[in-house]
Amino acid sequence: MSTVITHIGELHTQDPARGAEAVLHDAAVIIEGERIAWLGPSAQAPEADEQFDAGGRAVLPGWVDSHTHLVFAGDRTAEFEARMAGQSYQAGGIAVTTGATREASDYDLTRLLLARVAEASAGGTTYLETKTGYGLDVEQEARSARIASTVVDEVTYLGAHLVPDGIDADEYTDLVCGDMLAAVRPYVQWADVFCERGAFTEEQSRRVLAACRDAGLGLRVHGNQLGEGPGVRLAVEFGAASVDHVNYLSDDDVAALAGTWAGWDRASGTGERGTVATCLPACDLSTRQPLAPGRQLLDAGAEIALASNCNPGTSFTSSMNFCVTTAVLQMGLSVQEAVRAATYGGALALGRHVGRDADGQRAVGSIAVGHRADLHLLNAPSATHLAYRPGMPLTAAVWRAGMRSAGRG
Ligand code: NIG
Repeated sequence: MSTVITHIGELHTQDPARGAEAVLHDAAVIIEGERIAWLGPSAQAPEADEQFDAGGRAVLPGWVDSHTHLVFAGDRTAEFEARMAGQSYQAGGIAVTTGATREASDYDLTRLLLARVAEASAGGTTYLETKTGYGLDVEQEARSARIASTVVDEVTYLGAHLVPDGIDADEYTDLVCGDMLAAVRPYVQWADVFCERGAFTEEQSRRVLAACRDAGLGLRVHGNQLGEGPGVRLAVEFGAASVDHVNYLSDDDVAALAGTWAGWDRASGTGERGTVATCLPACDLSTRQPLAPGRQLLDAGAEIALASNCNPGTSFTSSMNFCVTTAVLQMGLSVQEAVRAATYGGALALGRHVGRDADGQRAVGSIAVGHRADLHLLNAPSATHLAYRPGMPLTAAVWRAGMRSAGRG
C-alpha cells in the first residue's frame, strides 16, 4: 500500500545529508508500507495507491519525545497547587506516585499508559521513550518495565529515581545494581539515574551507571536539575547518550558537553556522537525553575534535544508543540533549531537518528528515503506558526510508521 502526500508548502526533512536544502517547498512524499519511499517536487511525484493533498501546509518529522515517565497511577494536583503558591519542587513527591502506582492493577496501569500515548500521538509524537521509576522495588520495577515494553518504543530503567522510605540508601543502591536490574533487564534498552541532592549521590550514581553499563544498557542521567552538581560530569565520563534537565550548568559543564561532539560533523550528521543535553522546558515552567540554557549549549557546539518529561510531578503534559513554542519564545532558539531538537535531536538522544541494521529498525526523527514514515502535518503553512500562534491546535494529521495514527487532516 502506498500513499503520496502532495502540495506540501514546507517539508522539513531534518536530513543532514541535504545540507542547506533540508527544507523543501511545494514538495511531495511517498509512503510505502512503513517507510519513506520517495520525496521531491510535488509536480514530479510518482503515482501511488492513495493521494493526500496537504494543501500548502507544512510537514515535519513526527516528534521524538526522548524523556517521559508515563507508567504511573494517581494524582499530584495538590502538590502542583502548593508549588504555584510558592513551595519549591522537592523530589519527595515521587513517593506519592509510587504508592498509587503500586496499588494499581496491571490492567489499570496499561490502560492509563495507553491513554497517555494516544494523547502524545494526537499531538504529533511518533516515537516515545518512557521510564520506570514509580515502582521502586524489584517486583514493581519489573512490572512497570514489562508494561512499558508492550506499548512504547524505548524503555529506560529508573530504579534509581528515589530511595524509598524504610531502606538505607546504599542498601537500596545495591538492589538497583543487583536483583532489580536483573528483573527489569529483559524489558529495557536504557538505564537512568537521578543524580541530585535528595536523590542519589555521585558515588551511588556511579555505581548504578557502572552496573547498568556492564549489563549492556545504554545510559542516560537526570542531572543538574535543582542545582549545579556532578550529573553532567558523570554523564560525560560514562559516555551517556544523554543528560537530561541541565538547568544549572557551570561553564565547565557546557564545555564538557560540547567536547563530547568534537568528533561529530553536525552538517552531515556523521562521525562520533557524544552526550545530548536534553532540555525539558515544560518541566522548567511547571517547577518555576530557570529554563535550561539551550542557546548557550548550541552556541558552544553541543547537541540538544527537546522532550516533554511528561510525568505527574513536574510536567504533566506530553505536548511537544508546547515545548517547541517555549524553546523559541523563552530559550532563544530559532524555529529551525527547536524543530530539529524535538525531532532529530530526540532521535540522536535515543541512538535512532540512523537505522539499526542488527534488528532491522529504521531511522526516525528525519525524513529521507528508507527512514520510518513518521510525519506530522501542521494546520499551518510553515513551522514558524508553532511559535507565532502559541497554544493553537496546529496538529492536523500524524502518520506513524506509515499508518495514519491521528488527525483528520
Ligand atoms: O524528571 N527529576 C526526576 N524525575 C521527574 C520528576 C518525577 C516526579 O516528581 O514524579 C522529572 O522531573
